[in-house]
Amino acid sequence: MAETRSLEGKTLLVTGGAGFIGSNFIHYLLKNYPRTKVINLDKLTYAGNLDNLKDIEKDPRYEFIHGDIRDRKLVQEVFKRVQGVVHFAAETHVDRSILDAGEFILTDVFGTFVLLDTLKSAPQVEFFLHISTDEVYGSREKGYFKEDASLSPSSPYAASKAGADRLAYAYFVTYNLPIIILRPSNNFGPFQYPEKFIPLFVTNALEAKPLPLYGKGTNVRDWLYVEDNCRAIDIVIQKGKLGEVYNIGANNEVANITIAEKIVSLLEKPRSLFHFVPDRLGHDKRYALDCRKIHALGWKPEREFEEALALTVRWYQENPEWWKKIKERSLEFKTFYEEYYRNRK
Ligand code: NAD
Ligand code: TYD
Repeated sequence: MAETRSLEGKTLLVTGGAGFIGSNFIHYLLKNYPRTKVINLDKLTYAGNLDNLKDIEKDPRYEFIHGDIRDRKLVQEVFKRVQGVVHFAAETHVDRSILDAGEFILTDVFGTFVLLDTLKSAPQVEFFLHISTDEVYGSREKGYFKEDASLSPSSPYAASKAGADRLAYAYFVTYNLPIIILRPSNNFGPFQYPEKFIPLFVTNALEAKPLPLYGKGTNVRDWLYVEDNCRAIDIVIQKGKLGEVYNIGANNEVANITIAEKIVSLLEKPRSLFHFVPDRLGHDKRYALDCRKIHALGWKPEREFEEALALTVRWYQENPEWWKKIKERSLEFKTFYEEYYRNRK
């Protein structure tokens, strides 16, 4: 049986709310729940950006706390003030985890541990949504992963997320805490840091820079528009069963090269920008989710992929002041990354 919870009138803690999905989720909450308050706890790593929340920074329903989810004292104080937690904060870029996994273990695993452990002494918290990822299942050529499939993560990022995901489950089983785990597929949309595939390719194309396709560009992801993901999180908060895992996918499998073609076509740029580069180490071929469980709660994606991609491309086109500030820094990492691959034996 599905449960029912309400978000209206509550104060929620959103961790990692200055990042891509977190900031979209905060916008979504404030827009759809006029009496709901949000506390955003974010360390502002390279991926955290308060510009994502500029339009709501003075909203009395919104509060920003600059801090680390690993700071137990701070987390304990914040937990006293909230009735729900949505935990996004993480290191999230696979390529960075390949070069240096340390921060991934420290934030994604240990940081999640600090939050879960604090939850033990916060009985008024009605729900804790742990945002995991489809990458915990690993890759598969055919078929779809159901929520009870075994986990076989293949990047240090995915492995650290799998550790956090199962730790969240263990805290549900052991301490009977109100935890639900979500495994979304690849998100795209406004405010995504331009090191990730779609914003990197759109902003590079806008600047007539090469578009670095890994391998043959044939790897497949299930692309989910971020607004649809936010609605899914909302529905799981309302109706999801405690202790359960929910896949969130759009059943929208597209090869990287096809996306690159659509981006250059939308921007009227030449295909000659395509640049085939050495493949990512351990590059997962395909992610694919069986989403019948969340469909049964009444959610399905609303945006067609073509429409959502066009909206996204237009957003980056119309907001160069947002991405130009952070692009240079993201390219510093890209240069470092390419150097690493060039020098590998
Ligand atoms: P992001 O990298 O854009 O943002 C991460 C945010 O977490 C940043 O604001 C950063 O400052 C903050 N953060 C990092 N370490 C922190 C710490 N120790 N304490 C407090 N804040 C910290 O990430 P995203 O793409 O928005 O992803 C959000 C969550 O969703 C992550 O848990 C990620 O694993 C998961 N996820 C993302 C996708 C995707 O396609 N982007 C898909 C599935 C799951
Ligand atoms: P990414 O956005 O890093 O997400 P993830 O690896 O977590 O799914 O990459 C999406 C796909 O795009 C993945 O197959 C790797 C590929 N990719 C490129 O081909 N070139 C790039 O420069 C990047 C960043 C990704």
